[in-house]
Amino acid sequence: MIQEPQLAYPIVVGTELLEGVGALAAQRGHGRAVVLSDANVEAHARRVAASFDTPTLLRTFGLGEERKTLATLAEVYGALAELEADRGTLVVGVGGGVAGDLFGFAAATYMRGLPFLNVATSLVAMVDAAIGGKTAVDLPAGKNLAGAFADPVAVVADVRALETLPAGQIREGLGEMVKHAVLAGAAAFEQLEHWAAAPFERWPWAELIERNVRVKAGIVARDPLERGERALLNLGHTFAHAFERESHYALSHGNAVAVGLRAAGIAAQRWGPWTERDQQRVVALLRALGLPLAYHGLDVDGVLAAMRVDKKRREGRLRFVLARALGDVVSGVELDDAVVREAVERCTR
Ligand SMILES: NC(=O)c1ccc[n+]([C@@H]2O[C@H](COP(=O)([O-])OP(=O)(O)OC[C@H]3O[C@@H](n4cnc5c(N)ncnc54)[C@H](O)[C@@H]3O)[C@@H](O)[C@H]2O)c1
Repeated sequence: MIQEPQLAYPIVVGTELLEGVGALAAQRGHGRAVVLSDANVEAHARRVAASFDTPTLLRTFGLGEERKTLATLAEVYGALAELEADRGTLVVGVGGGVAGDLFGFAAATYMRGLPFLNVATSLVAMVDAAIGGKTAVDLPAGKNLAGAFADPVAVVADVRALETLPAGQIREGLGEMVKHAVLAGAAAFEQLEHWAAAPFERWPWAELIERNVRVKAGIVARDPLERGERALLNLGHTFAHAFERESHYALSHGNAVAVGLRAAGIAAQRWGPWTERDQQRVVALLRALGLPLAYHGLDVDGVLAAMRVDKKRREGRLRFVLARALGDVVSGVELDDAVVREAVERCTR
């Protein structure tokens, strides 16, 4: 169990945990619960619902990013009303990052806030989305525009759930794991290099996920509302969001993060002490993990324009998060336009 001193909730990583959610909820002082699940993980959610001493109702929803909307949120509110959820009811959400963001936001706002327990079933959710208390749905104007900061009462990551996750979805989480390794330093990076060539079935998932959770949980505990240090988690993301947008989302977020990390490294070499050797290690690791290093054919000026409208823009200026060395990452860096252009050019041809 990971309990960051400044984080109000525990994050439990391991195996055989789905069957223990009822006991964990009881330990945290919660009795009655309802379980809301992504339909794709209904089998896992059934085990969660069965873990409560009292009969616990389960509702499933067909999800996916295209369903992370106000309309689906309304369906979830409707289910909570039908299930007669009230302030004394614990909402347990089961699924990937979409489920966590959507059910978490529903719980945070239904009757002005019900307690929420997040059972993360995708790699993205386990190493990233479930940690940090951000909840949201997408609006036509953009992703995650309607949301709230709302801490869960606990996060559960049962690594056996990954056995049913398609390999492509595992790969979606690997870019964030590389990012966390750059933030954490040489030992974490070497561990990922060591496992990169092995088939996923052999990976020590619990150990690796715990290490990732510690990186993110440590940062968000020190900066829960994203006023400073939390920006470090955007390493590679200013580039990634622009690549994603300019590809009209043909490039998935996970793959965009991989290309974005390479681009941020190219820029970091021009800007500071980030060495060719460190950059080559990042590139080799991304390659070994089967992640892309470039997305060919994007319009460079389009990517640069997309970057300028990125919400991480501050005071009209683009600022970047860049590594100086493994384990030494800084935010708020202003770069010459030529440096940004070169990084984008090299990652789009
Ligand atoms: N709140 C945050 O801080 C934060 C951080 C990162 C990402 N996110 C959000 O997370 C979302 C992406 O998360 P995601 O990649 O988990 O997407 P997702 O929830 O859509 O899951 C990906 C796919 O895997 C399926 N799935 C999940 N777990 C499974 C399992 N164990 N077995 C079989 N199939 C399974 C889902 O049904 C879906 O088809 C985005 O909406 C993003 O905005 C939020």
